[in-house]
Amino acid sequence: MQSEQGYNVGGVIYPRPFKIRRLGHFGFNVNDLKKGEDFYGRLLGFRITDDLDIRTLGAQFDNLEDGRVLFMTHNADHHAFLLAHRSLGAIFGDDAESADVTLNQITWQVNTLEEVVNAVEYFNKNDVTLRRMGRDMPGSNWHVYVRDPDGHTIELYYGMEQVGWDGLSKPTELYYRRFNETPPLPQISEKTEVEEAAQSGIDVYSGFRRKDIGTGDYVVGAVRLPRPFKITRIGPVKIFVNDVGASEAFYTETLGFQRTEVVIYKGHRCVFLRAGTEHHSVALFPKPLREILGLSDHTSCATVGLELGGYAQLCDAVSFLKREGVRFSDAMPAELSPGVDYTAHILDHDGHCLQLYYYMEQIGWDGQPRPAHLRRKVSEPWPETLEPMSDTYADPSFMGPLG
Ligand SMILES: [Fe+2]
Repeated sequence: MQSEQGYNVGGVIYPRPFKIRRLGHFGFNVNDLKKGEDFYGRLLGFRITDDLDIRTLGAQFDNLEDGRVLFMTHNADHHAFLLAHRSLGAIFGDDAESADVTLNQITWQVNTLEEVVNAVEYFNKNDVTLRRMGRDMPGSNWHVYVRDPDGHTIELYYGMEQVGWDGLSKPTELYYRRFNETPPLPQISEKTEVEEAAQSGIDVYSGFRRKDIGTGDYVVGAVRLPRPFKITRIGPVKIFVNDVGASEAFYTETLGFQRTEVVIYKGHRCVFLRAGTEHHSVALFPKPLREILGLSDHTSCATVGLELGGYAQLCDAVSFLKREGVRFSDAMPAELSPGVDYTAHILDHDGHCLQLYYYMEQIGWDGQPRPAHLRRKVSEPWPETLEPMSDTYADPSFMGPLG
């Protein structure tokens, strides 16, 4: 796989044997799973695709105060968001340094199983701490878990199970296709796997049926939904780190993110990195900024972004969540969201901050962000409608129905 020039990734030579395509999923550990389920499920609209006691997966989880893990999604991926108890820590790895890690994982999609497997050798060679390798069920995704310099669990994966119109996840009887080690290559396709299971007598349609626990009735783009908006994309993830330079080196040189922009805020260097055409998918902030901003010191997560399906939905979401008594935050200044215009920040019960937005600047072939003076100025109060920018509604579109 490796030549003098680099690694062959699908016929293209890269400095590493994989290319990260997008944020696939992330998860929070919370103090109260019931409250978390209500916040992320009923209010924000993540649908539940599996509900599992993780203590059944191994003795390392025996100490959990609450072993329930909710697998949730906004799209057809089996999971885009995981909700677990605070006692989980950084999933499959924990240490004293990462005491404030409440993001149980930050997970990135690559495009082939080969990329995942080749990444293992590459990480070993580059002294990156490997936490786990194999394939988990639920979700069916083949993956490798590593540790970032602050103890966040970073996962690369291929092949997330898709949950379609019937809302069915794979049944536990299919979990014999789980791997706790690097799988031998090549592997059979998912189609073959499911056909073989059906032939052996397994009822492949007996899995968990997806649930939306929303209770409202709103019309979104002429479709009735339980809330007046739809999450259409997850990310960016902004994290507080101990050493911005060390983390920047890890995310760019080891993982391959591109640097889009650096912002100096109150003397602190903040770095914005991207995986694709979005202005940023990851932002790295120095830890002292957490206190200056007034964000919760229980977590190294500054914010996770949730893109909604349009500007009108963003406005409607703000009204809806205010009516529901959700806490809003003005801790995150506009300077720390370059490439985003109208946006609102909300807090979950534990103080995790989530950024609601509808637009993010898109970066083209030359890798240059829009000059700051050409960006849209946010006006107060928010106008009813907006003029389009050249890259408004130009990011990858949401696949499938809204609900
Ligand atoms: Fe994962």
